[in-house]
Parts: sequence; structure tokens; C-alpha cells
Amino acid sequence: MEEKTWVRMVTAQTPTNIAVIKYWGKRDETLILPVNDSISVTLDPAHLCTTTTVAVSPSFDQDRMWLNGKEFSLSGGRYQNCLREIRARACDVQDEEKGIKIAKKDWEKLNVHVASYNNFPTAAGLASSAAGFACLVFALAKLMNAKEDNSELSAIARQGSGSACRSLFGGFVKWNMGKAEDGSDSLAVQLVDEKHWDELVIIIAVVSSRQKETSSTTGMRDSVETSLLLEHRAKEVVPKRTKQMEEAIKNRDFGSFAQLACADSNQFHAVCLDTCPPIFYMNDTSHRIISCVEKWNRSEESPQVAYTFDAGPNAVLIAHNRKAATQLLQKLLFCFPPNSDADLDSYVIGDKSILKDAGIEDMKDVEALSPPPEIKNAERSKGEVSYFICTKPGRGPVLLADESQALLHPETGLPK
Ligand code: DP6
Repeated sequence: MEEKTWVRMVTAQTPTNIAVIKYWGKRDETLILPVNDSISVTLDPAHLCTTTTVAVSPSFDQDRMWLNGKEFSLSGGRYQNCLREIRARACDVQDEEKGIKIAKKDWEKLNVHVASYNNFPTAAGLASSAAGFACLVFALAKLMNAKEDNSELSAIARQGSGSACRSLFGGFVKWNMGKAEDGSDSLAVQLVDEKHWDELVIIIAVVSSRQKETSSTTGMRDSVETSLLLEHRAKEVVPKRTKQMEEAIKNRDFGSFAQLACADSNQFHAVCLDTCPPIFYMNDTSHRIISCVEKWNRSEESPQVAYTFDAGPNAVLIAHNRKAATQLLQKLLFCFPPNSDADLDSYVIGDKSILKDAGIEDMKDVEALSPPPEIKNAERSKGEVSYFICTKPGRGPVLLADESQALLHPETGLPK
């Protein structure tokens, strides 16, 4: 290695994902191996993603990380496992322009700096760890010139957080549970890319909640230990459902897709109730949203919207197409209008063109919305939803070549 002045950096952007067939339960806690396959849709990184810059320099005296500007420890087992696995795959790096030459064997001795930023509130319960670990592993792999493809990298991201392995691809993604004891076949594969089913529109209702939820890690451990329904689900239900879901996605069969996604979300929450002590992730608002969607779907010839809920009260609603999304937004804004002091601009974020299609430009238009005809005596309750995010299926990880987008300073390797 040359003298101690250089800093080599890589910046990447990775999307979050939402499962339509849920991962819930591990057969190996350290390697993070699941008890069943799962399938997810990747969300458009324009609205929900993590950006991570990783840097290496002989002047760094330890591995360090900053998340949204605040320093965090990298000493946790999951970070250590990801770092170790990536370092083991590092290769020679040569950057002639900057005069940097790193030999494969040098990576063991070099420390890294990591800075990560989410373009959505970390605390909102929107799978920030999935995008975060996927981005960390993807960026480090590029920094260290690892030759593994995204599926192979997904098996490393999996060891950070299970759901992270599905964020290595865009479109629809399957995490194969695998059989091997060392986890080598427990990895993500892309089913179809984001262009395959591009009429889908996704609306996320970020539901207000005061209660601190049980973490997924703890919750699923309790479920594995105590829920008989989980055993039945993993053995009998998910294997069949996964095949049906793959078919539905391949054929763009929205009716089957919606039926399977809703049933799977409901079964996951039933497993939570079947856990001892029981876990409640959804709240009254979540239940009201389910009931709105169910009533509407039943009043139509075929389902227009699918819902799915993770380990929290937020609803992820997947609409068949733009027309369905427009109607959905009108119904949601009728039932869950913003607080009187809120402004519409911050109440509906992301792709605001759906709001325009719905003919809603200001709060007066929200007030004037008519009640959904399929809901008898529909009530309006303010403040139950914090905000809505309009988005769509999106692409997988990318490298950001433009150095101005890096989160670390090119000379010091410290946060900008
Ligand atoms: C309900 O991936 O957060 O979102 O592997 O322990 O980090 P760990 O759990 P995590 O669990 C996600 C659970 C879920 C369902 C899903 O994403 O499939």
C-alpha cells in the first residue's frame, strides 16, 4: 500500500420492499434462515430508499458508522457478520487516477466508514432495516471489488436482517428458504422486474401509533416457540401459496394476487395473536382500513386493491391500476381526513399526480368528498393517519457515480 493519504469511496442507493407472502420465523437465529419462502414487491426508491456511502482509508483507525447524521456502533453481531462475510470476498482494487492500490490481503487490516441516510422517517416502521442492510452490503461489495452477483450478496444481507435479502432486486422478488445448514442456498432471486407489472400503484397509510411495537426479531422468536398455527402455516400453507402467488405475478392476475396477499397478511397477524404472549401489530385504524378495502372489493366484480401489514399498524395498499388508485385515495381521504391544521401537501406525499387525478387540490376538495357508497354511514375521523405515501413498484440497487451525492467527505472520510 502507498502512503496514508487517500480515501476510496462508493455510494449506493437501495430500495425497501414489502412482503406479499410474509417471512415470519427462523430455523436458525444466527444465520437468519427462515421457516418458509417469502415474496415481496420492491418499492420505488424515489420515495422510499436508503443511500449509503462506504469509504476505506489507511488513516481510519476503526470501523465507524453514521445513520441519518448520528454515530451508531457497528459492534452488533449482525453488522459484524455482514462485514466479515464481505471482507472475506474482497479482491484487488486499483484506482490509477487516485493512485490507490489495495491488494486482496490488505482488506483484513483496513477499516471502513459508513454513512447512511433514509429518505423517509426511520421511525415510521417502513422496513428501514431491509433497505439499510441491503445497501450496506451492496456498497461494501462494490468498494471491495467483490465479484459476487446480487443473489449471492443477498445471502450476506440476509445475515443483517432477513427481509434485507429481498432488497437486492427490483420488481417482484422471492426469498428461497433453502435447505443447506450453512445457509448457502437461502437467498433472493428476482421473479420479474419492475416493468413486468407497471400499472400497479401503491399507497401507504402511515398510521399514527403511540405504542412501541415488539421488534420483528423478538416477535418471530416467540411465535416459533409457542404458535402451532405458525408450524401449520410454514408446512402446509405457504408452500402452496407461494406457487400460486408466483403464477399470479407472472400472469398479472390481480384478482388472485389480491386474494393471496390479503390472506397471507391476515394469517401472519393471526400467527401473532396465536403467539404467547399475543402480539398486536395492527390497531383500530388498521382494522378500519381493511374493512374499507374489503367492502369496496366485494362491491366490485373483482378486487381492486390488495392490503398488507408488517410488524406495525401501517397499511400498504396495492391498487390494480391508476384508476383504482385514484378512487382508493378519494375513499381514504374521506374516511381519514387530515387534522384541521395539517396541509394537504404534507399529508399526501410521493407521487402527487394521483391526487391531481382524483381532482383534489386543496383542503376544500377533501371536505367536499362524498362518502364511499359501499360503506353504510361512513364516518370521518381526523388524525388517525399521519400521512399517505403514493408510490409504485421500483428498481433494485444502483451505484451513484456522482461524488457530490456522497454522504462522506472525499478527503476526510467523515460525514459531510
Ligand atoms: C413482518 O427482516 O425485520 O416484515 O430477520 O429478525 O431482522 P429479522 O426480521 P425482519 O422481519 C420482517 C418481518 C415482516 C415480514 C417480511 O418482511 O417478510
